[in-house]
Amino acid sequence: MFYFMMSLCVKLCLILVALTPSIADISSYVPQITQKVPVGNLTSSTFLLDQPQCVFNTSGVNEVWLVVALNSVTPTLKNENLGVPVNCSSFPVTKYYYTLRVFEKNYPCNLTNNVLAVLDVGSQTNCTDIQFCNCPLHSTEVYRVKFVVLSNTGFVGATNWSSPIKLKEVMNYTSITLPLLRSEGMIGLTAILGILLAVFLICIIVALFIGSRNIFWHRRLDSNKWVSTDLEYRGTYKKQPLHNVYIG
Ligand SMILES: *[C@@H]1O[C@H](CO)[C@@H](O)[C@H](O)[C@H]1NC(C)=O
Ligand SMILES: *[C@@H]1O[C@H](CO)[C@@H](O)[C@H](O)[C@H]1NC(C)=O
Ligand SMILES: *[C@@H]1O[C@H](CO)[C@@H](O)[C@H](O)[C@H]1NC(C)=O
Ligand SMILES: *[C@@H]1O[C@H](CO)[C@@H](O)[C@H](O)[C@H]1NC(C)=O
Ligand SMILES: *[C@@H]1O[C@H](CO)[C@@H](O)[C@H](O)[C@H]1NC(C)=O
Ligand SMILES: *[C@@H]1O[C@H](CO)[C@@H](O)[C@H](O)[C@H]1NC(C)=O
Ligand SMILES: *[C@@H]1O[C@H](CO)[C@@H](O)[C@H](O)[C@H]1NC(C)=O
Repeated sequence: MFYFMMSLCVKLCLILVALTPSIADISSYVPQITQKVPVGNLTSSTFLLDQPQCVFNTSGVNEVWLVVALNSVTPTLKNENLGVPVNCSSFPVTKYYYTLRVFEKNYPCNLTNNVLAVLDVGSQTNCTDIQFCNCPLHSTEVYRVKFVVLSNTGFVGATNWSSPIKLKEVMNYTSITLPLLRSEGMIGLTAILGILLAVFLICIIVALFIGSRNIFWHRRLDSNKWVSTDLEYRGTYKKQPLHNVYIG
């Protein structure tokens, strides 16, 4: 009898272990800045996040949101406080907001080849009258993000927080140029710039002469998906499936 109980227990344990991967534990997923693009994963107002794949229940009907928060408030933002979406316009007060609302099934495991699974956070510049806008970020702040799953009764689950995300500093144009304007090297600098400009123009004329078909890098940029700045996808570079997927 004892051995029977033991073997039953072992079997049950094995079954549980086997089941574990299919019952996705989304809380261990950590959102990442993408490494899939050579440039542009961080700008002064946006960052590119890897789209979560095989993280959420792909047959699920719940909503998935991206929570964007100041790093400084994340220790106080417990999951039980994340059941109600916060509009971007409240960010100055709350220090966090929700955006990129989709259904779980909109983050599938597989994507077709010509689709780059990244999310462009902060890419919506015109937020007038847009609920839960993917609004531009501030270069001076440090952010963290997490995905939150909500049903119509509230909080269902959440991923872990990302690492702190520091955007690219904006060049302070006035403080850079003012000392130069005053310095005596200004004339020399102008002369050098003039020469460089002339050389540049000559190069362009030569290039045009040789033939515009040879400007191959232009074509490559055109055909690469990551160059797309389509804002209508509200932050994603996916070309087809997520069209009009973001709700509201
Ligand atoms: C979330 O990440 C932190 C480190 O950033 C880690 O200590 C913690 O265990 C993670 N939580 C889960 C549920 O994976
Ligand atoms: C941005 O992408 C580059 C190249 O893929 C990578 O080396 C860098 O670590 C990325 N930045 C972050 C913050 O992940
Ligand atoms: C995934 O979602 C479907 C539809 O809501 C549900 O029936 C199923 O139990 C869910 N699976 C998991 C592992 O939560
Ligand atoms: C995902 O792609 C792999 C091969 O690339 C395929 O075997 C698998 O069936 C696909 N899964 C889904 C859900 O489409
Ligand atoms: C911003 O959006 C509003 C309404 O959606 C529109 O009236 C306005 O013209 C837009 N502004 C710009 C600069 O696109
Ligand atoms: C949500 O925020 C946008 C600006 O980011 C604003 O235009 C809109 O009125 C806000 N909605 C509500 C209900 O406050
Ligand atoms: C540029 O720098 C000056 C002086 O350091 C500062 O007063 C100004 O606010 C800065 N401008 C921006 C846009 O950061």
